[in-house]
Amino acid sequence: MKKLAVMVIATVAVSVSTVLASEGEKIFKSKGCGTCHKPNVNTVGPSLKHIAEVYKQKNGDLVAYLKGQADAIVDPKKAAMMKNYLRPLKSLSDEQIKALADYILSH
Ligand code: HEC
Repeated sequence: MKKLAVMVIATVAVSVSTVLASEGEKIFKSKGCGTCHKPNVNTVGPSLKHIAEVYKQKNGDLVAYLKGQADAIVDPKKAAMMKNYLRPLKSLSDEQIKALADYILSH
């Protein structure tokens, strides 16, 4: 019986994290972020891979950045370009911001 409970909990945990990652990708696409951020190559904005690397290296808080509570650490000289795109994120819930951050950091 105990074993069954553990299995049920594990299954639920896995499906929740999968939902979050795909939710994050959906938000990323619906907000037009992909215009400037490609997965692996730097274009107008840094690639998602580069952003994930910098945040991991510097132990940055991506959730705080996306909420407008932390300064840019990837390419601060161009931070003004990003500012306009952070504004519409204010309407997202904490869970949605977390999902978006997880999606970016998964690269
Ligand atoms: C018009 C082009 C453009 C769009 C659209 C855009 N970005 Fe950016 N983004 C940039 C540029 C340029 C930078 C580099 C400046 C910087 O690091 O702040 C950047 C940087 C970032 C960073 C790194 C911030 C840091 O710490 O330096 C994140 C995270 C990010 N963008 C997420 C997003 C998300 C999420 C969206 C969609 C809501 C988005 N971007 C839409 C151009 C864009």
